[in-house]
Amino acid sequence: MRFSDLVDELAARLSRAPVHFGHGMPGARDEALALATFVCRAGNWQRPSLLRRRVGRAACARARHLALLRVSRRMPLAYLTREAWFAGMRFEVDKRVCIPRSPLAELIEEGFAPWLKAGQVRRILELCTGSGCIAAACAFAFPGSEVVATDISPAALHIARRNIQRLGLSNQVRLLQCDLFAGAEGRFDLVIANPPYVPTSIYNALPSEYRHEPRLALESGAAGLAAAERILRAVPAYLAASGLLALEVGEVAARLAASHPELPFFWPDMRRGGHGILLLRPNTP
Ligand SMILES: C[S@@+](CC[C@H](N)C(=O)[O-])C[C@H]1O[C@@H](n2cnc3c(N)ncnc32)[C@H](O)[C@@H]1O
Repeated sequence: MRFSDLVDELAARLSRAPVHFGHGMPGARDEALALATFVCRAGNWQRPSLLRRRVGRAACARARHLALLRVSRRMPLAYLTREAWFAGMRFEVDKRVCIPRSPLAELIEEGFAPWLKAGQVRRILELCTGSGCIAAACAFAFPGSEVVATDISPAALHIARRNIQRLGLSNQVRLLQCDLFAGAEGRFDLVIANPPYVPTSIYNALPSEYRHEPRLALESGAAGLAAAERILRAVPAYLAASGLLALEVGEVAARLAASHPELPFFWPDMRRGGHGILLLRPNTP
């Protein structure tokens, strides 16, 4: 069977099924491409020659089996393939970490220009690192920097450590198990976080796919603001004078902005989609 025919078959199957897309995969065809690429070990599915390539029977059978699991268990594809892509890098994932999909990738890849100057970013603190994807992307974007990444979950940090080691970043990224800032020392040029921010009532109504992710990674109190509020309170003690806070708060952005009229949040437009990322400078009233 040709690769393109396998993709068509998988896409048709997924689009007929009552599944939810939203873990970095916008729709059935994207998932079908990712799945076919995975079983072919093809790496880069954007190569035009791949579409004409022939796929062996075993690989087709594997793809159909994974598609069946995707539909019957409502499991996000990344947990079936055990991999996810973020900022151009591959990360190992499983149910101990949430699936990398933060729109922060775009800002990191652009080195937070014009808000930060590459040469000035020496220390970076990532809170809530999960798989380590944001810490790793920051380490690549700011090569001479020291990155400290924290998470409260030892299970998540186990995966983060594997990713950081595999990417050859162990000398640059230090992982700490702690509650938000608790283990961090000194000041940082960039504090970045994609904390949990889903209100409890919304969490309870999320599509089944989200139940496979750790609840700790998503839910954050009745208003969804528990973690974000704690970060905003503590961050002045950790930001360097010309530093920047980049905080993802997704759908609760308007609620957070309304609770803090005194804070001059800047909400950058995201070219690749996504929303709810605030930027904040220290010492601004
Ligand atoms: C939305 S996930 C983000 C993971 C990763 N940074 C990403 O963007 O894919 C949130 C992470 O925050 C962690 N977390 C939740 N509460 C925390 C806390 N109080 N202190 C540190 N980490 C926390 C969870 O374990 C989870 O890994």
